[in-house]
Amino acid sequence: MADQAGKSESAVPWWQRAVVYQIYPRSFKDSSGNGIGDLQGIIDSLDYLNDGSDASLGVDAIWISPFYPSPMADFGYDVADYCGVDPLFGDLAAFDRLVAEAHRRGIKVIIDWVPNHSSDQHSWFKQSRSSRDNLKRDWYIWRDPKPDGSPPNNWGSFFGGPAWRFDAATGQYYLHQFVPEQPELNWRNPMVKEAMLDTLRFWLDRGVDGFRMDVIALIIKDELLRDNPVNPDAPPDLPDNDLFGRLQQVYNMDQDEVHPILKEIRAVLDEYDERVGIGELWGPLPRWVKYYGEHGDELHLPFNFRLIDIPFDADAIRQSVAEMEAALPPFAWPNYVLGNHDRPRLASRYGGLAQARLGGMLLLTLRGTPTLYYGDEIGLSNGTIPPEMIQDPQGVNLGAHRSRDVCRTPMQWSAAAVAGFSDAEPWLPVSSDYRSRNVAVQREDPGSMLRFYQKLIHCRQSSDALTIGDYQPVPAGGPCLCYYRQHQQEKLLVALNFSGETARLPELDQGQGRVLLSTEMDRSGSVEIDQLTLRPFEGLLIDLSLL
Ligand code: GLC
Repeated sequence: MADQAGKSESAVPWWQRAVVYQIYPRSFKDSSGNGIGDLQGIIDSLDYLNDGSDASLGVDAIWISPFYPSPMADFGYDVADYCGVDPLFGDLAAFDRLVAEAHRRGIKVIIDWVPNHSSDQHSWFKQSRSSRDNLKRDWYIWRDPKPDGSPPNNWGSFFGGPAWRFDAATGQYYLHQFVPEQPELNWRNPMVKEAMLDTLRFWLDRGVDGFRMDVIALIIKDELLRDNPVNPDAPPDLPDNDLFGRLQQVYNMDQDEVHPILKEIRAVLDEYDERVGIGELWGPLPRWVKYYGEHGDELHLPFNFRLIDIPFDADAIRQSVAEMEAALPPFAWPNYVLGNHDRPRLASRYGGLAQARLGGMLLLTLRGTPTLYYGDEIGLSNGTIPPEMIQDPQGVNLGAHRSRDVCRTPMQWSAAAVAGFSDAEPWLPVSSDYRSRNVAVQREDPGSMLRFYQKLIHCRQSSDALTIGDYQPVPAGGPCLCYYRQHQQEKLLVALNFSGETARLPELDQGQGRVLLSTEMDRSGSVEIDQLTLRPFEGLLIDLSLL
């Protein structure tokens, strides 16, 4: 298709064309036999991700969740050393091998960067808490108790309870908006900023291609640390300890002062060639879009989680995409996410495997960089974790229904014991369907979810229309979401039936098209566009270029 479209545009940066694949390293592949995935396991799986042939998944970049030294109070998002590798996952030499092996296959490597908080075991925090006049005291956010001894303000932790922990030895509270083992760094202190920017350089010098920046909107809080207002719309059934859920998040995140800092972070990335800055961000569109920077000088890709948060419904998705496209300044490149290590699995949220395939086709055919979550390509659904085995602090503190363990179960590679993930008892139980739902079985089945994803990614990567083309929605409502993607002479139609009923397409062009892919993997060849019907939850990718 690229040939047909004529010249492809080499000036487009790699991260605009790329399909990104998120790896949660604890759960991907264990090479050391301790039940926990590791960097060597990722190296061993690189051919699965992209060996250059149509028989591999074909992704262009991996984002690896944290592998830094960590006491694992939040499974690696509590970093004890920003410039190291936890022995559980390997060492720096293994990381260097990983980068070299990935690059040899043309796979870019994006790593997680956790700037808002460190571990309480980081040497910076150990020094900071050692005395009020320690030189690193001001590297974290310490405040006196209120006169009655209570915390300095009313903020709650995302993971339940107050966002402040009293430190009896020095008589002050420190701020932590996650677990108390994740004290928050004070980005108003220029030395903190410099030290953290240096950690970026450390990894850039080792060849990483970009960063996914954890809770980036949190790094600067209101200077006066004012109380957050009560949220009048808070659900009535929140657990007693969910102080966070009862408040509007006004003063603890998304302060305007975050933007100059993001420009400095971006300037560090720009010291190197084509590195990408991705940020974990939520919030209303007008605030979210600011994270691209007024002049495109902040994040390349503020993560867009809107598709995760809206119902499985053609109208809702059409509207969400339209609003996002309308909000983007001309220089900004869109992106989409349908799953990650914090949210229930796509197949479970969408209510079935046919729906999950439809979601995959949506994700990989919209205009913008897609990020896939490991295991979604074989249709992993939420794991079943017995309550006494819950590991995630959010689940432990706020109830089993909030546990993120369900989307972190081991990757299912084969029907061997422990799904080929490990030789040992895994850190989270493997899902019970692993004997039939695994990479080895799906590789051999031409109609499998894995083969569907392979084909879909290869269609995308060989099409300028899908990677860099325009997006033209078909405005009609109804259960089918339809849009065109076009680049020069290449024009594709994407038609997705979000209902459980057979559906006809809205009035579209007349004439013929060629089916490139059905979510059911059983259609090809020419079709009359105005005669087309879609089966329940079927999606079609149709080439109209010959019309
Ligand atoms: C982000 C991560 C999440 C982590 C939290 C604290 O939301 O995605 O997994 O628990 O930040 O670092």
